[in-house]
Amino acid sequence: MIRYVDKNIQSTFPAHYPAVLEEASAALKLLLSRSGKGKEYLGWLDLPTADASEMRRLQESAAEIRDSGDLLVCVGIGGSYLGAKAFIHALRGEKHRIRFAGQHLSPLELNDLLGELKEKDFYINVISKSGTTTEPGVAFRILKAEAEKKYGKNAAKRIIATTDARKGALRRLADEIGYRSFAIPDDVGGRFSVLSPVGLLPLFAAGLDADQILRAALAGFKTALADDADNPALRYAAARNVCYREGKGIEILANFEPRFHYLSEWWKQLCGESEGKEGKGIFPASANFTTDLHSLGQWIQEGTRSIFETFLVVDHYQKDITIPRDPQDGDGLNYIAGLQLGYVNEKAFKGTRAAHESGGVPTSTFHLDYPDEEHLSKLIVIFETAVAVSGYMMGINPFDQPGVEAYKHNMFRLLGKPGY
Ligand code: PA5
Repeated sequence: MIRYVDKNIQSTFPAHYPAVLEEASAALKLLLSRSGKGKEYLGWLDLPTADASEMRRLQESAAEIRDSGDLLVCVGIGGSYLGAKAFIHALRGEKHRIRFAGQHLSPLELNDLLGELKEKDFYINVISKSGTTTEPGVAFRILKAEAEKKYGKNAAKRIIATTDARKGALRRLADEIGYRSFAIPDDVGGRFSVLSPVGLLPLFAAGLDADQILRAALAGFKTALADDADNPALRYAAARNVCYREGKGIEILANFEPRFHYLSEWWKQLCGESEGKEGKGIFPASANFTTDLHSLGQWIQEGTRSIFETFLVVDHYQKDITIPRDPQDGDGLNYIAGLQLGYVNEKAFKGTRAAHESGGVPTSTFHLDYPDEEHLSKLIVIFETAVAVSGYMMGINPFDQPGVEAYKHNMFRLLGKPGY
């Protein structure tokens, strides 16, 4: 189960919260009517796909990758990699056989990966909806050359393209060379695509429980789209907007689980690209606690009061650790001997939340019963819905991203790309 606790937000803004919650409910109705801004990009509401043969092909490809490859290199940027990386890192940490490339232009990083690939059998999943994005395009060209060096004519069998069904350079290439391919639905934008083949192939190849992911996503949508005052997506959208309107323009998503680092990165893209337009939007920031309590903690406690905080905590662990008793007690820690580490982490969360609230930071919390496929799937759906609802509450189109083109034009001009 996922519980969303927003008592503190409601009690901080008692005069405004009820009306904002009503607005959130109206925005959810607009989303469900599929007639609001960006209505041509609502295909994410219908994911995961009901196409059984597509799902079977995804599972078969994933099984082949697991059986015949040491590594799968996913090449993509933004929405074309963050969802899978978030999900896999949250559940497996660093212990998995998925590598990510194409989300930077760093020779240092790519050289490390090329070195690792020399020793391993690998597959490549190149993911780009437009099929023309520079960073994954360049990385794929380099990795494809490496695969061709290693596997010769058989390299094409180890390359899988996830892209538009009809257009773009990657689609043309896939059709010409005969790569196995999966289609990204036209009506699904990158940051909402984790439950499409963009995310599902890497998740299945990582060995995550496919049935649980799919079942939980459907259940998650049932909860997140319900016009019901207990709907966590609705209440979270309301909480974010009441804070924003009261001058809290920065949201910190704070976890107590280092493995959620990339979940925050995915969430930052989801919020930032959806809301940051027309001079509006909450700036999405993140913190990994307790680590960052020893760096950002001071600022959060006493710095400029422009923030609100959303905690993401795990209530139970499948496997916890008992803190041992030390006969000498030289470190003075025997007062917590015999306790579970998860219990101590929970007290750190409660202590932090109370401190930040007393420092004037409005807070709310998502509680996950367990860190597993079910809870991750549901959380993703709740966040996607909340951000769409929140975007409508701000009066913007949450599904486009016109601003990301500006840097590309300058880069192309500096690199001498024809036409720039
Ligand atoms: O959310 C988005 O639409 C973007 O972040 C894209 O996913 C990102 O720019 C990559 O685009 P593409 O998949 O076309 O290579």
